[in-house]
Amino acid sequence: MIKLAPSILSADFARLGEEIKSLEKHGVDMVHIDVMDGNFVPNISFGIPVIKAIRNLTKLTFDVHLMIDTPSRYVKDFADAGADIITIHYESEVHLDRAIKYIKSLGKKVGVAINPSTKVSVLEYLVSEVDMILVMSVNPGFGGQSFIAYSLDKITEVKELSKKHNKDIMIEVDGGIDKSNVKSVINAGANVIVAGSAVFRDGKIKENISLLKEGF
Ligand code: DX5
Ligand code: ZN
Repeated sequence: MIKLAPSILSADFARLGEEIKSLEKHGVDMVHIDVMDGNFVPNISFGIPVIKAIRNLTKLTFDVHLMIDTPSRYVKDFADAGADIITIHYESEVHLDRAIKYIKSLGKKVGVAINPSTKVSVLEYLVSEVDMILVMSVNPGFGGQSFIAYSLDKITEVKELSKKHNKDIMIEVDGGIDKSNVKSVINAGANVIVAGSAVFRDGKIKENISLLKEGF
């Protein structure tokens, strides 16, 4: 089953609670929450208090994508704030295996993200340890960028790696996905689709979700 995880980075922050309730009403599977620290990526978004504030509004899975340096320093705080899946970047953590084990010990699902320029082969020994691999299809930091075409090959490589290790994982793809390319992303092997601007653009959340799901 393919899951849709709208990124609230493109939501109207003045009406964040309503936007989240609207996502739940229109049948999405997860809320993708992009945390940025202005160091790992050249942008700052929001953090722990915001996640805490929206946690009691919905039962949707909180899929927290940490674009911060050395995220292991903060994963406990994000777990306590209500994250269900905590995804950290391969490029942001020196002791990645230790950080993965730590997230699991907090009772949370764990994901590892790779930037566009990072080879899938770095995941060889990790794929058996994680619940999700996140293939970034734009350079992280901003919503509304164009999908990087070679990401499709990387998605297929992740799928092959998961088969090789006989491990059923979530393969999430994030960045530049809209109705024009969502089918090719799924055909390549993705099963969790992140979309920010394609969902929240022009405020027509319901229509935009149905348009994306036509490609599922
Ligand atoms: C980028 C974020 C994405 C972003 C997706 O750094 O990780 O989740 O919000 O936005 P769109 O779908 O507009 O590319
Ligand atoms: Zn993201």
